[in-house]
Formats: sequence, structure tokens, C-alpha cells
Amino acid sequence: MAILEVKDMEVHYGIIKALRGISFEVKEGEIVALIGANGAGKTTTLHTITGLLKSSAGSIQFDGRDITKIRGDKIVSMGMAHVPEGRRVFASLTVYENLKLGAYTRHDKDEIEETLNMIYKRFPRLLERKNQPAGTLSGGEQQMLAMGRALMSHPKVIVLDEPSMGLSPIYVNEIFDIIQEINKSGTTVLLVEQNAKKALSIANRAYVLETGAIVLSGDAKELMNNDSVKKAYLSE
Ligand SMILES: Nc1ncnc2c1ncn2[C@@H]1O[C@H](COP(=O)(O)OP(=O)(O)OP(=O)(O)O)[C@@H](O)[C@H]1O
Ligand SMILES: [Mg+2]
Repeated sequence: MAILEVKDMEVHYGIIKALRGISFEVKEGEIVALIGANGAGKTTTLHTITGLLKSSAGSIQFDGRDITKIRGDKIVSMGMAHVPEGRRVFASLTVYENLKLGAYTRHDKDEIEETLNMIYKRFPRLLERKNQPAGTLSGGEQQMLAMGRALMSHPKVIVLDEPSMGLSPIYVNEIFDIIQEINKSGTTVLLVEQNAKKALSIANRAYVLETGAIVLSGDAKELMNNDSVKKAYLSE
């Protein structure tokens, strides 16, 4: 069953049409990758489904409800969490304070505490650095914090925008391992990446976005062997 279904979604920035009617779906339990070059519309897509941008046409269904016109904070409380491009942690706040902010839509203190402990278990480095300002963390650690903060809302679906951007290869591998673990523990994943090779290696299915339109889609392993994907996205 599709937990997220986007149909014919169009998004404009003023007179510029950034998304030209895209359709895709994410089924419960999947890792779905959205790949594409700079400016293809990946971030725009995530901002629109998480309620930060308004679409000018089309519809978005999430967990059986139409969220096309729903506000971002409402969407978070319905179970979709967003890890933004560039992490966007609050540099002067501590790791702990950043994590607590991720639970802003929840009210049960005991449940929030339980989630926090689960996150510290998954990211031992965040526990070690819980009282440190987030701005003092390395890039990879900030990515972990951004992911931990999103998980604090206890989401059904987590959407990740370029989690590997700017990280060294060791961190890239670690982040992708964590994404797989998060998925195994029951969270559906929508992953936007320029690192198509890594994204396709962990995804079940993928969509290729080019200048605001989906030009290819299918099983991730099949796309990895597709000649045009290889040529455009997998050559070193
Ligand atoms: N705030 C904005 N105002 C005007 N145009 C914008 C704005 N944000 C994005 N765009 C344009 O919309 C298109 C899609 O941008 P978007 O950021 O979604 O691409 P992307 O696939 O995430 O790229 P990248 O890989 O560089 O992050 C681009 O042509 C971009 O210039
Ligand atoms: Mg982007």
C-alpha cells in the first residue's frame, strides 16, 4: 500500500515552473530514492510534500489523507519528518536541545524520553556530545543530529535531502548504513541524493528527475544497470 502518493504535482517559483507535473509513490516499508542533477527539482519536491511550499496543481496523499493544502507542522504531527538539505541544525543550541526541538509536535514526556534514549542508542556519538553546541560537531555528526532530530517526531516516513552531501567516504558509508537501519526498524524512507550509486544500492525503487519531470522509474537494481542512468549518473 502506498503511504505517500504524489499525482501530477506542479510547483512554480513566480513564473518559473520548477516541477512540471510529477507523479510518484512510496509504499509502506520501502526505501525510495529520487535522483537527479543540480536544479532538477529534488529539494522542491521534498519541500512541497512536507508543506513548506505550495503546489500549483496536483495532489499529495499521505497515510490515507489528502495533505495537498495542509501546513508543515500538521504534516509532521501526522508522521512525516524532514531532514533538510545542509542539515540546518541550530548551531548555538546543544545536541540535546536540538533533539528536543524535533519533538515539538509531541506532548507525552515519557514517550519523548523513550525516543530520545532510542536515538542515543542508535547514535552513540550524539550521547557523548549531548551538551556540546551543535555548531562544534563535524559534518557527519551534524547529519546524524539532523536525522536524530527528525526521528524525535517518531515519524512513519522520513524524507532525507542529500544526507551524504559534503561528507568524507567513511561518513557517507556510515550515514547510508544508518538509513538502512532506520528503515529496518520500520520507518519508510524517501531519499533524495546526487550520490546515485549509493542511493540506488540501498533503495528498493527509484525515480529519476530531470528539469522538473520524472524521466525514468523502476526497481533500483534495474536502474543501476540502465545505460542512460549509468551514463548520466553513475560514471565517476
Ligand atoms: N526560491 C527559489 N526561487 C526561484 N527559483 C528557485 C528557488 N528554489 C529553487 N529554484 C529553482 O527551481 C529549480 C529546482 O531547484 P531545486 O532546489 O529543487 O533542485 P535540486 O534538484 O534540489 O538541486 P540540487 O541538487 O542543487 O540541490 C532550479 O531551477 C532552481 O533554480
Ligand atoms: Mg536540492
